[in-house]
Amino acid sequence: MGDFLWWRDGVIYQIYPRSFADSNGDGFGDLPGITSKLDYLAFLGIDGLWLSPIHPSPDKDFGYDVADHTAIDPRYGTMEDFDKLVAEAHKRGIRVILDMVLNHTSDQHPWFRESRSSRDNPKRDWYLWREKPNNWASVFGGSGWDYDEKTGRYYFHMFLKEQPDVNWRNPEVRKAQLNVFRFWLERGVDGFRLDVFNAYFKHPGFEDNPSKFGLRRFDQQVHVNDMDRPEMMPLLGELRSLLDSYPERYSVGEPFVSTPEKTASYAGAQKLHTAFFFFFDNTTGLIPKWNADHFRRQMLDLGKAAGNVYLPALAMSNHDIPRSASRYCRGEDDADAKIAMTLLMTMRGTPFIYYGEEIGMRDISLSRKEIMDPVGRYYWPIIKGRDGCRSPMQWDDSPNAGFSKGKPWLKLHPNYTARNVLAQEKDTDSMLSFTRRLIALRKEYGALRDGGILFLEPSQKDVLAYLRLSPQGTILVGLNFSSRARKLDLPPGDWQPLLSTSARDEKISDIIKLAPHEVCLMKSS
Ligand code: NOJ
Repeated sequence: MGDFLWWRDGVIYQIYPRSFADSNGDGFGDLPGITSKLDYLAFLGIDGLWLSPIHPSPDKDFGYDVADHTAIDPRYGTMEDFDKLVAEAHKRGIRVILDMVLNHTSDQHPWFRESRSSRDNPKRDWYLWREKPNNWASVFGGSGWDYDEKTGRYYFHMFLKEQPDVNWRNPEVRKAQLNVFRFWLERGVDGFRLDVFNAYFKHPGFEDNPSKFGLRRFDQQVHVNDMDRPEMMPLLGELRSLLDSYPERYSVGEPFVSTPEKTASYAGAQKLHTAFFFFFDNTTGLIPKWNADHFRRQMLDLGKAAGNVYLPALAMSNHDIPRSASRYCRGEDDADAKIAMTLLMTMRGTPFIYYGEEIGMRDISLSRKEIMDPVGRYYWPIIKGRDGCRSPMQWDDSPNAGFSKGKPWLKLHPNYTARNVLAQEKDTDSMLSFTRRLIALRKEYGALRDGGILFLEPSQKDVLAYLRLSPQGTILVGLNFSSRARKLDLPPGDWQPLLSTSARDEKISDIIKLAPHEVCLMKSS
């Protein structure tokens, strides 16, 4: 693949800005707070930051209901603060990716205010208005259509009723949306994460979706008419040309209701640079799947779909789902969180770390009355919402974990007195030291970045083992998912341990006995 490209070969870190670092004591994270932590991110070895939305928002969906795409929400700071963050990040070789939420706007966005003001307003057609609803549903519960008393019509919203979907078929909308990208590109932003981009276009005749079995109304439909429309492709081409007219700019799509094939269809030449593959399609079930075979199969399917066309963006955690450490670990034991981090860093793809994942942060638990997320409020107690994974970053053991001098907007995890950055920086066995070491190994060994991947066939259950291969050398990753020791037959040759959660430094040949939950990376020598 050649030279190091930050967005393909680097490690990207997702920040949920309101929970990362608060500089002015209002309990709400902000841009100067992020700037003050750039040295930490550089120390970790991060190449790019993705900021969840920082635009003005009434916060019905915690920033994903944007009221102005080309401004900064004053709670996060000013445009000058933003420019400073970008400049300081660049000084440290860290790129900045913004979250573009362009499938919908807030109902408080000036476009929608105009659109709903009368049936003959020039912006009426900027949103999806109908005399009668069809069967399309809202992800957040109920019908996707809301009746507007004043103009006697229904408008479509795939998410909350305060998040009306825009009409991307209208040429003026398309132009205005592409101008949003242009605005930020001109300010020096390096890339964009596209929120639910595959829902931009809907069926022109608003045909009903076919039905299928599912628990929620949204899941009881096959989403052929409200997403994944072929009209998406020319738009992706146009966006790509715009990005390519600036040096080293990047786009990563969030394919909604995703499969490896779908993800792959949107990435490559004249399309997006890449698209997410989430290792947590299993989290809607009560018991997340945690076994070697599950990950092996997912990675094989993804590899088959992506081929050599693009490198998938990989994530184990984000702001929408329980953190990987909460899904896979028991109590405060990080053994399985280290396996999850190793998968993220050594499988074929570009890793995205969710803030706090590097210290094994766990979800907070909330009572019903503490829930803020609309998803949790609607579906409680079946789905408890997404607040759990959005708690403030745990920097140290001082009051409010060093996140804020004021009362945090969301409660902290009580484990912060022991689980925090400061404590883990001093501990060579910590999750943080382990993550840092993995990132450093990715930098050192090209095989871990762009090498091929070959899965071994271990003779014992619960072992996942694969080779990352490149002309410069081979790395073997061995993971023991079991709480018992397991044997792994090694390919011929001597293997030199590079990183292990058991004490190992001797060369190994023929066979390795992996300790319970051991992670072992070895290079052939
Ligand atoms: C996907 C985002 O990740 C999620 O947080 C948000 O609620 C929806 N898109 C709607 O924007």
